[in-house]
Amino acid sequence: MNQLPAVPASRMKMLITREQIKRRVAEIGQEITCAFAEQSVVLVGVLKGATIFLSDLARSIELDATFDFFGVSSYADRVRQSGEVRLTKDVDTSLEGRNVILVEDILDTGLTMNYLKNVVMTHQPRSFRIAVLLDKPAHRIQPIDADYLGFTIPDVFVVGYGLDYAEHYRNLQDIYILPPEAFSSG
Ligand code: IMP
Repeated sequence: MNQLPAVPASRMKMLITREQIKRRVAEIGQEITCAFAEQSVVLVGVLKGATIFLSDLARSIELDATFDFFGVSSYADRVRQSGEVRLTKDVDTSLEGRNVILVEDILDTGLTMNYLKNVVMTHQPRSFRIAVLLDKPAHRIQPIDADYLGFTIPDVFVVGYGLDYAEHYRNLQDIYILPPEAFSSG
């Protein structure tokens, strides 16, 4: 089966380049390395969008670091958030007494991160931080701030570097703005 996305990357506007991402991720990695010197951290990614950011961030952190993942029901093939967050995969390891860094691709309404923050807090971690690559404050419904933030972006739908539309575009190395025609024919 050949299901190509309606709009190829060559026809999209680039918003953040791979060089910008690389620089910023390295800076965040350094910040985390300094903040948790001599300690271990557990990076908890949110499937699937955060996987690329997590894998680059992890390699910028010069500490003992382990990984775990949450799965949540998300936009699926639609752009609008339903307002309801559901856990589809819990973490596999105990977060009790750990330095937990929740790693996400983008903060939009804030519903997902608020929900996951509450889940993590029930584990009684030693410390809790949020690392987010992108912040899109325009649609925030629930207030939440990232402790480590890559970039603040305007009210546009973006793809690439882990972010998808209908599961496409996650493997693009730069971040692009998805044009309106991609939604109608998706
Ligand atoms: P929130 O719960 O509304 O903050 O939504 C966060 C989730 O929405 C992210 O993990 C993404 O899966 C999805 N999302 C929000 N904005 C975008 C976007 O511009 N591109 C791709 N996914 C997005």
